[in-house]
Amino acid sequence: MRIIRTKDYEDMSRKAANLISAVMTMKPDCVLGLATGSSPVGTYRHLIRRYENGDLDFSRVTTVNLDEYKGLDRENPQSYYYFMRENLFSHVNIDPERTFLPDGTEQDSEKACSAYNEILHRAGRADLQLLGIGHDGHIGFNEPSDTFAKETHCVDLTDMTIEANARFFSSREEVPTQAYTMGIRTIMSAKRVLMVASGADKAKILREAFCGPVTPRVPASILQFHPDFVLVADESALSEM
Ligand code: GLP
Repeated sequence: MRIIRTKDYEDMSRKAANLISAVMTMKPDCVLGLATGSSPVGTYRHLIRRYENGDLDFSRVTTVNLDEYKGLDRENPQSYYYFMRENLFSHVNIDPERTFLPDGTEQDSEKACSAYNEILHRAGRADLQLLGIGHDGHIGFNEPSDTFAKETHCVDLTDMTIEANARFFSSREEVPTQAYTMGIRTIMSAKRVLMVASGADKAKILREAFCGPVTPRVPASILQFHPDFVLVADESALSEM
């Protein structure tokens, strides 16, 4: 595992964008695994700027997102589809037909998950998987559990996650209680995994995830076993490591 220490959120975002840009430049038809949350927003902003400057081309890129809330449709401003459109897709020359997320409107969880697994298999191993980290150590929406779930599955969100994500909704009651998420095996199959983390509130979980034992109780800890895992984090987030 490599750690890139940055000054602050902006510095983290620029350095993460550097790593993604390098993959896109070397492999214009790359597969990128993408994430939502506040952590990657700055990274996306930098990628958009580079596209506008003529340094990046998204026309042949395929993207597969980690997760989606069950029950939210694409026009719901809280859906991850909407987030991706607002924060990246609508600003660059990506082919919408090559951007994939689980289908939050599919009520049949088995159907939704197997359809997404099929998409992931067809896309093949991601060249790079971008990740944030939840306060309980979740990646995507792989919540603490007794085992590592391998492929796409439906999860019950923990109270901590619902609480943390309530800031994006007008009330806690509106936060969906379930989500579809890519599994740990799929995340681990990416050629490179890049995690972005910023702020003192992530310090404790980063220490637990990367200085403690590998356990499904802290899902991100599995990344200690990934052969090419890069953590780009600012000083506050690394303050306990
Ligand atoms: C959500 C997402 C995760 C993300 C996490 C942290 O739960 N499903 O993919 O990593 O939030 O979000 P933030 O970056 O806003 O702290």
